[in-house]
Amino acid sequence: MKVVVDLARCQGHARCEDLCPEVFATDAVEGKCVIAQPEFPPELEARVRLAVRNCPEGALRIAKS
Ligand code: F3S
Repeated sequence: MKVVVDLARCQGHARCEDLCPEVFATDAVEGKCVIAQPEFPPELEARVRLAVRNCPEGALRIAKS
């Protein structure tokens, strides 16, 4: 599976990075989400899904890879 970000919606809340830093980071300049590992391994799925649910802007979604 793969996670994608809609940068037009991302406002840099960084909850994704807090919840799963193996997959999410934030850009040092704009503070927006950077997906370091879009195609995440199965052992990270629960935390990636938690991050998707916790983005206040609804900017993250899971896609079929
Ligand atoms: Fe952006 Fe949502 Fe993460 S606003 S930085 S994708 S928690």
